[in-house]
Amino acid sequence: MQKKLKFNQQKGERLVGKVALVTGAGSGIGKGCALMFARQGATVIATDINQESLLQTQQEAEKEGLKIHVMGPVDLLNEADVNSMLIRLISQHKNLHILVNAAATAVFNWIEDLSYADWQLTLRAELDSVFLVCKATWPHLKQSGASSIINFASANAYVALQGSPALAHCAGKGGVLAMTRQLAMEGGPFGLRANTIAPGMIVTGATKPVLEQPGLIDNVMAKNMLKRLGQPEDIAWCAVYLASDESSYVTGADFAVDAGAKTW
Ligand SMILES: NC(=O)c1ccc[n+]([C@@H]2O[C@H](COP(=O)([O-])OP(=O)(O)OC[C@H]3O[C@@H](n4cnc5c(N)ncnc54)[C@H](O)[C@@H]3O)[C@@H](O)[C@H]2O)c1
Repeated sequence: MQKKLKFNQQKGERLVGKVALVTGAGSGIGKGCALMFARQGATVIATDINQESLLQTQQEAEKEGLKIHVMGPVDLLNEADVNSMLIRLISQHKNLHILVNAAATAVFNWIEDLSYADWQLTLRAELDSVFLVCKATWPHLKQSGASSIINFASANAYVALQGSPALAHCAGKGGVLAMTRQLAMEGGPFGLRANTIAPGMIVTGATKPVLEQPGLIDNVMAKNMLKRLGQPEDIAWCAVYLASDESSYVTGADFAVDAGAKTW
């Protein structure tokens, strides 16, 4: 019972005057946010470890008559790379108002088969990358006086999905949820807001192979009130709201964009 939605690609002005850094912009949710932010008038700086996919995002934007600035390849687990990217960004664009931390990878395996190395790799990719980019951007976001960090938790920060070997991912996303609350508290006095979006199952480069596992899609649909899988645009609309001044009284919050998966 999959319904295909046609997303509105119309341009708007909800982010005009904002400079946004979007990580993981070569694929999935980060790419969806980068394109949507550009449609809404933001100056978008897109980064990813995968330069080829970043350039594809840039080309897709160009086809719509939009401009996306590419800064890559950058490994967000390398502190020196992250810091030098920020120096370049600020020297070119002067300000930074929005940070979308969409880059991540995770190893999915049952506890018996999950090595300590896989556990550590997942926690580094899901937590350290967010920490390093938040730390490097923090002084600039603080200085801007009205800024927004958008991090990605997950329905898995709250619930376990039958058939999904997500132990390390659950820990990582629970961590992102908790660290974002703390960032909200530390940033509040400076007008720096921090919120999470907790996506349900969104079709992206990361989830396509997972969704091919026998039976998994049935388990996903059993917890899905809308009976369709999510698309990056479903998440990007929420990110536009959190990035814009429309949400200027919203911080420390988590937005479930999951077709009800967390609550059902
Ligand atoms: N897709 C979902 O169903 C879903 C559900 C819940 C949460 N999330 C979260 O949303 C975010 C985006 O997920 P997605 O599904 O779009 O993933 P994705 O794999 O499609 O895209 C992630 C991007 O991050 C980049 N990346 C990974 N490690 C990097 C590094 N060290 N440095 C720089 N770039 C790096 C990858 O190259 C890739 O382009 C992640 O935090 C993910 O955990 C996704």
